[in-house]
Amino acid sequence: MIWLSCVVLVGAQWGDEGKGKVTDFLAEKAAVVVRFQGGNNAGHTVVVGSEEFKLHLLPSGILYPGKSCVIGNGVVIDPPVLLKELTDLAGRLPNAGTLYISPRAHLILPYHRLLDRLEEERRAGAKKIGTTARGIGPAYTDKIRRTGIRVVDILDREEFAATLADILAEKNELLAKVYGVEPLDFNAIMEEYLAYGEKLRPYVADPGQLVTAALDQGQNVLFEGAQGTLLDIDHGTYPYVTSSNPTAAGACLGAGIGPTRIDRVIGVSKAYTTRVGSGPFPTELSDDMGEHLRHAGGEFGTTTGRPRRCGWLDTVALRYAVRVNGLHSLAVVKLDVLTGIPKLRIGVAYHYRNEVLTEFSASLKVLADCRVEYEEMPGWHEDITGVRDIGQLPANAKRYLERVTELTGVAVSLVGVGSSRAQTLLADPAIFA
Ligand code: GDP
Ligand code: IMO
Ligand code: MG
Repeated sequence: MIWLSCVVLVGAQWGDEGKGKVTDFLAEKAAVVVRFQGGNNAGHTVVVGSEEFKLHLLPSGILYPGKSCVIGNGVVIDPPVLLKELTDLAGRLPNAGTLYISPRAHLILPYHRLLDRLEEERRAGAKKIGTTARGIGPAYTDKIRRTGIRVVDILDREEFAATLADILAEKNELLAKVYGVEPLDFNAIMEEYLAYGEKLRPYVADPGQLVTAALDQGQNVLFEGAQGTLLDIDHGTYPYVTSSNPTAAGACLGAGIGPTRIDRVIGVSKAYTTRVGSGPFPTELSDDMGEHLRHAGGEFGTTTGRPRRCGWLDTVALRYAVRVNGLHSLAVVKLDVLTGIPKLRIGVAYHYRNEVLTEFSASLKVLADCRVEYEEMPGWHEDITGVRDIGQLPANAKRYLERVTELTGVAVSLVGVGSSRAQTLLADPAIFA
């Protein structure tokens, strides 16, 4: 088997790149699929045959029978959401994969969801982040403040009661004094979360041990990122980011393995760019072309249903993603969405004041005010959704992909021409054979 044993798949843009679909495709060859960060802010759509699955917390490998799927310590879990996702899936797919949950994963509690909404309401105008309102930021805040509650904590009544009493007293003070809302009831949360603990108990296992054992036995492990590089708390367009590390290094921290175990890192990118929520987006199109991409690509959020902002491919941002993730290659999906556009544009540099910038800037001001330099390329008109071999793509589509490689410095190893498994083309099948 040439498929390298430990592959990390991450979003190379602002999320919704098609990670779920690519994970599902590659998962066929993996024994274990691991989510390592984020929570149910993620929405990964996977199409199997005529069925569409929208996964938020479950790793996309769960759709294969016999696959081990892991929710690592780096993920924040909203227990009722996870339990509902499991029940819904069992109703549709009786022989789904087997789930394991880290005892160290932090939990989303009712006050996290409430505070996510209240904090967002308190932010004025352009300062609004446009979060998914799932409680993600407040849950990660508590993790870092050392006031979080983990899966293991709701497995023990006495421990949980003592921890929750302290934390809830503080949260209720905050809710009442700063936000002027009703306090939350200790007993109600206690009993609700202890009941979740009992339902989750059978799934609890150490992901670090599980992944290491699989790798030691020569099995393939696939890490499925959520969100994307530019939403990373360290490397993204801060503060318009999520509160975790969706970049490749997050896989080690969020699953409990060392960086020496990772063999290959793949970044998923659309053939254009989208973003949901606020924040700078240099290649955004606010004209008819943006509207065309939104409709042709079905660009409406999987989790919140919000219309996604759309724009041309940005290779300044992609080069940055190559660097901060150490990408070996790119998976470029939704190439079919560009069909029929006579002239395609690719962002190649930013101009700010009198400078030409070829690096993605840390300054939001620069990203918001820069002028993007584009290269224009001829498009194609042929329907490519039935193409099953990259060699059979129209010449201009191949040229577009070659230009992406030239501009980013990494190969395009996989191409998507539709949402189904079959509409996934491998540039170098040997890598994954
Ligand atoms: P994720 O969050 O990165 O997993 O991406 P989402 O699932 O939120 O959004 C990607 C959308 O694009 C989903 O609806 C996929 O079914 C769809 N998709 C993925 N790859 C392709 C492709 O190559 N062509 C088309 N037309 N749709 C695709
Ligand atoms: P997947 O895994 C796209 C965005 C939100 C908001 C910002 C912060 O499907 O690619 P949060 O709720 O995380 O505090 O919101 O991050 N965001 C995503 N955008 N895809 C996602 O996940 C996202 N998860 C969060 O829109 O701008
Ligand atoms: Mg998504």
